Amino acid sequence: MKIIAIVSAKGGVGKTTVCANLSVALRHFGKAVLALDLDPQNALRLHLGTDLQNIEGLSRATLARTGWRHACVQGRSGVYVLPFGMVNEADRQAFERRLDAEPDWLARNLNGLGLAENSLVLVDTPPGPSVYMRQALAAAHFVVVVSLADAASYATLPMMEGLIASYCKGRMGFIDHAYIVNQVDRARQLDKDIVQVTRNALGERVIGLVHQDQSVSEALAYGLSAIDHDPHGQGRQDLLACAQWLGRRLDQADARP
Ligand SMILES: Nc1ncnc2c1ncn2[C@@H]1O[C@H](COP(=O)(O)OP(=O)(O)OP(=O)(O)O)[C@@H](O)[C@H]1O
Ligand SMILES: [Mg+2]
Repeated sequence: MKIIAIVSAKGGVGKTTVCANLSVALRHFGKAVLALDLDPQNALRLHLGTDLQNIEGLSRATLARTGWRHACVQGRSGVYVLPFGMVNEADRQAFERRLDAEPDWLARNLNGLGLAENSLVLVDTPPGPSVYMRQALAAAHFVVVVSLADAASYATLPMMEGLIASYCKGRMGFIDHAYIVNQVDRARQLDKDIVQVTRNALGERVIGLVHQDQSVSEALAYGLSAIDHDPHGQGRQDLLACAQWLGRRLDQADARP
């Protein structure tokens, strides 16, 4: 089982979109995938065709000590989803205190789920350092940083490198981290320049670019991933290519002695 954390320092860059679509794409490529929502926004499920009335999730299951298995649901996308769940403010605070007190909470609970040996768990996180991002980084075998082709996003990359160095580097089982540049508009010279600067700075660590594509945001309105929504979308092609890169990279890590 491998845990892939999807993170960013800045908000609204497309983490949840990328997490949902990589999950669906990796499922298409034959992997067993669990998409896990570690963000109180509880929005990952909206991309994956799950029952909108369902309030269950890992926060409620943790507080009630009922185990996570019953909170996992299968959406129309075919991917298993573990939503964050809906909690009131007092319960959210109690839940966050629990996570703060138990730094290995995510890894321990995922190991306890008894997933198939070759499963992939993609973890969506809220933006910036938080108890949620710490849990995700502390458990991750691989980290995907999502960034935009803008100066503000580019300026946060050293902060992400620092967090990854603190929580991941040198830890047993940790493979690597890499970047996806999202919402790229090739008609804008600034986007092209920042993509170039990012490629120069990060080289092989750039998984790929995902273009700004209306069908990606439209898919969410239909409660679907972009992969399932528009077979001809540029965003879909980009996300499939990123998933292929990630699948190959994880397979390579397995192949190493
Ligand atoms: N490649 C893309 N093309 C067009 N729209 C996109 C693309 N990626 C994301 N979006 C849109 O950008 C918005 C923000 O995306 P998303 O919610 O995935 O970001 P996020 O990083 O998870 O945000 P938060 O930090 O609040 O968790 C959404 O409306 C989404 O549909
Ligand atoms: Mg999000």
